[in-house]
Amino acid sequence: MFARRIAVVGAGYVGLTTAACLASLGHRVVCADVDAGKVAKLRRLEVDILEEGLPELVAEGVAAGRLEFVVGASGVFQCPDQVEVLFLCVPTPMSPTGAADLSAIESVLSEIGDQLAPGTVVVNKSTVPVGTAALAERLLGRADVTVVSNPEFLREGTAVHDFLHPDRIVVGASDQNAAERVAALYSRLGAPLVLTDAQSAELTKYAANCFLAMKLSYVNAIAELCEQLGADVADVTEGMGYDHRIGQAFLRPGPGWGGSCLPKDTMALEQVAASSGVDFSLLRATITTNERQFDLVVAKAREACGGELEGARIGLLGLAFKAGTGDLRSSPALIVARRLVQEGATVVAYDPQVPLAVLGVTDGIDVVADARSAAKDASALMLLTEWPEFRTQDWTEIASLLSGTTVVDTRNHLDPEVLERAGLDWRGVGLGR
Ligand code: UGA
Repeated sequence: MFARRIAVVGAGYVGLTTAACLASLGHRVVCADVDAGKVAKLRRLEVDILEEGLPELVAEGVAAGRLEFVVGASGVFQCPDQVEVLFLCVPTPMSPTGAADLSAIESVLSEIGDQLAPGTVVVNKSTVPVGTAALAERLLGRADVTVVSNPEFLREGTAVHDFLHPDRIVVGASDQNAAERVAALYSRLGAPLVLTDAQSAELTKYAANCFLAMKLSYVNAIAELCEQLGADVADVTEGMGYDHRIGQAFLRPGPGWGGSCLPKDTMALEQVAASSGVDFSLLRATITTNERQFDLVVAKAREACGGELEGARIGLLGLAFKAGTGDLRSSPALIVARRLVQEGATVVAYDPQVPLAVLGVTDGIDVVADARSAAKDASALMLLTEWPEFRTQDWTEIASLLSGTTVVDTRNHLDPEVLERAGLDWRGVGLGR
């Protein structure tokens, strides 16, 4: 039997994935969450977030006696074995000022501070401003406990795969011995290791996410140029991507980037830059280019409805911020849908993972149970999330349900030939006509 050594506080997609994957690597893990209902469900092996492979890993870990769930951060100390490493995986949402809200981290630290055994390593996985590890050490006020920064680079929907096949592991701390103890937990993964100080590890996470956002804003601007110049963005990005310094990944144009991470992290780093006196106008441009992307998508909808959104009926395919998740946080699809409603359109939307109950009535968006219902009597259809099932719809039937003929495909996800054979007018992004 292994001694129980690892605690994970927070059972969201980062915490639960971390807990289940560390258990699958052979560690003994206790995972805590404040939500007693969520803990009860997890004990029944019910995973209510959409993460490929996660339910199976949770079931395996529990069956092997390497994974258990407790209520509240202090719950981890009720277990007989000593916690040696405690991961913080709690939310750090955007506060109204744009900065990261650290109250969840602060509250966990004040709850557990006195209960940590001497020599415990506290690991922060949440995305936090540079200096948070040092701040956490001060808040804990314990010379015998080190706070280590070990940012996660998991994508929602593919978090288990990303955890088990990481491009790199980044671990930073003032005490290199503590950093190495954390790095050793991942040794079986064989990933490149960056051992550094805490502030460099913390900044690495923002630097990576903001670079990804910049790459997308860049490619969306290139797509707009392609439309003006008669070029094809698919060929342009393919040609760019073969350059190893650029790479093919993260070059797909779309309705703008969203989700729970990139929008929040770009805003937070912008704040950090401003308060540090650094002119990071490149990051401001990354954000404003994305906001303009939503305007461009709304303009395409307007054009598809004959120049006027007032009174138009628009069918939307997709509401989640990307395929593979039901997450609506900062979803470009939802931002666009609300804008269409504000401009007087009737919006009827379908998303395979977003049920009607999730949206409040104030959104004014009519959420329906299938793509056919979204298409019925719509003057135009817009694809906003790249769910595979949208490609394999019966497009002849969809065409017969629409009152208009235009399909605006904001992700170049559909097969234009199939749509054209069905008598539809496919309008993608980044294609000059
Ligand atoms: C992002 C990062 O990719 C992860 O590395 C990071 O760990 C995570 O944030 C986080 O900080 O926790 P995620 O928010 O799950 O992951 O979403 P992405 O897959 O990065 O997609 C972000 C947005 O970019 C989505 O709206 C997506 O549709 C859009 N996107 C992505 C494109 O428009 N084109 C692309 O080629 C790729």
